Amino acid sequence: MTWRVAGMCGGILFAAISIVGLALTGRTALAQIGPNAKAGQVLAEKLCISCHIVGGQAARASVPADVPSFVAIANKPGQTAEAISGRIVVPHPPMPQIHLTRDEIADLAAYILSLREP
Ligand code: HEC
Repeated sequence: MTWRVAGMCGGILFAAISIVGLALTGRTALAQIGPNAKAGQVLAEKLCISCHIVGGQAARASVPADVPSFVAIANKPGQTAEAISGRIVVPHPPMPQIHLTRDEIADLAAYILSLREP
C-alpha cells in the first residue's frame, strides 16, 4: 500500500520534472535560433508597411513613390544584414523614431535580406 503510493508520487514527480525539462530546452532552443526572419516580417508588416513595400504585395496607394521597397533594398549589390541594420538604427528622415530592440532590428534585417534574389 505505502509502496504503491510512493510509486505514484514518483510517477507524478517524474512527469513534473519532464515538463520543466521540456520547457527549459524549448527556451534555450528558441534563444539559439538567432535572427528570425519570420518575426521580422511580422514587425515589418506592422511598422514599416506605411512607407515601404514590404513583401511581394501590391503597392498600397499611400506608399510614397521614392521609398525603396524591401525587395529593392535586399537586392542592392553587396547588401548585408549589417548594412541594413545600420540603416534601421539611424532613423531615416521621414521615418518616425521607432523604438526597437537589438533583436527586433536583427529580425528585420534578416527578413529584408531573405527577399534577396539569387
Ligand atoms: C515614414 C516613412 C517610413 C517608415 C515608417 C519606414 N521607412 Fe525606411 N525609408 C523611408 C525612406 C523615405 C527611405 C529612403 C530615404 C533614405 O534612405 O534615407 C527609407 C530607407 C530605408 C532603408 C535604407 C534603404 C537603402 O537604400 O539603403 C532601410 C533599410 C529602411 N528604410 C528600413 C525600414 C524599416 C525596417 C522600417 C520599419 C521598422 C522602415 N524603414 C520604416 C521611409 C520610411
